[in-house]
Amino acid sequence: MEIPSRRNVLMAGGALGAVGALSGAAPAWSWSPKGSVVGEGAGLDPKWVWDPEADALLAAVIDRGDVPRVNALLRTWTKNAQPLPDGLPADLKAFMDKARVMPAWSDPGKLTAAVDFNEKRGLYLGVLYGLASGMMSTVIPKEARAVYHSKGGADMKDRISKTAKLGYDIGSKNAYTDDGEMIVTCVKTRLVHAAVRHLLPQSPYWTASADEEIPISQADMMVTWHSLPTTVMRNLVAWKVPIPAAESTAFLHSWQVGAHMLGIKDEYIPATWDEANSQAKQVLDPILAPTPEGIKLADVLLDLGSTIDGSVLTRPVLSAFTRFLLGDRIAEWLEIKKTPFWTGLLKTAWPPFVAVREGLLPFPLAPEAYWTFDEILRKFVLLFLSEAQTISIEIPDTNRPT
Ligand code: HEM
Repeated sequence: MEIPSRRNVLMAGGALGAVGALSGAAPAWSWSPKGSVVGEGAGLDPKWVWDPEADALLAAVIDRGDVPRVNALLRTWTKNAQPLPDGLPADLKAFMDKARVMPAWSDPGKLTAAVDFNEKRGLYLGVLYGLASGMMSTVIPKEARAVYHSKGGADMKDRISKTAKLGYDIGSKNAYTDDGEMIVTCVKTRLVHAAVRHLLPQSPYWTASADEEIPISQADMMVTWHSLPTTVMRNLVAWKVPIPAAESTAFLHSWQVGAHMLGIKDEYIPATWDEANSQAKQVLDPILAPTPEGIKLADVLLDLGSTIDGSVLTRPVLSAFTRFLLGDRIAEWLEIKKTPFWTGLLKTAWPPFVAVREGLLPFPLAPEAYWTFDEILRKFVLLFLSEAQTISIEIPDTNRPT
């Protein structure tokens, strides 16, 4: 790929550049650590905080040439309570043994309640993680650039399966219990992110397009976090899905613990949905913007169904869903073609579809189309998660080569 400079992109991109330049700036950090799960903290702007211990360690592991050996060993480490494999470098083992400990504030009762929520809402969650959160990641400029230029950016289908593993693990029955896999997935992902912080600054392509020197700050982590649970909950509320307060809190809690296990500092993790929404307004909403990398990633995501039907039906449906969930502005940014039939159907039929599924509208009134939706959604969720169950998250030791 030709190396794009930000100046070229702005000059050549016309409207795209103008929109990006106007809407991509993050406002100053003013969210108080009093609203966090621990109620206190230094209050440093998370834009300038990364994950120092993990970052120094992974830089050393990469520079010593240990990555292939470590990845081979970690493939055998899959369950939360499983001891780390013999033969890991001592410094890495010491770090991982600390990193795998659940936070003192985690609440097993809430984590059990989260399982109920995930079971009841599995279909919506699959759709929302895949289409709202997944697509939103392509208009989070720093994430889109990092993903595109890192090793995994070259094979998006594989990357999507790996990322879906986290969504699968957090929603599974035994997510954080001994025989579950969420702790393992989070700790491995924390290592991957630390590796990316060391590698991307060595990519000529990333450095040419990025407006930062080290990727994946704590602020970026929270932005992506909000693209997940906060965005999911915003949609469920907008769809009027009835959710008991205890389940809503439990779902939030499972993601608070996830944030901690991914290396996000407790002082940045919101304690309540109100705090989460106020933080998202500050860190997520204003930074959404298109990038050339994000547009290409979105295009790959929309073709996710190509193996099923050559994208004949799946692409228009996924396009319509993206437009429906994220709005026209983001759809235009991503250069997603208009699909009037499917968009129209979603707009008119989605609210009653949800109402029928939730038992709020009597079944006899529901036309066939609602069950077509149900079927399409199930297929998509299966597709999205199919490979996630067996996937192994690996530490990269290079960037995307082109
Ligand atoms: C890797 C999840 C935040 C960029 C991964 C992986 C997961 C994941 C599960 C492993 C899958 C893989 O190797 O492809 C998350 C979650 C986040 C988060 C849950 C926040 C709550 C971020 C942010 C960025 C980012 C903020 C960039 C700004 C990347 C990159 C990779 C990665 C570049 C590596 C891909 C490769 O191997 O080349 N992330 N991530 N992530 N993530 Fe994140």
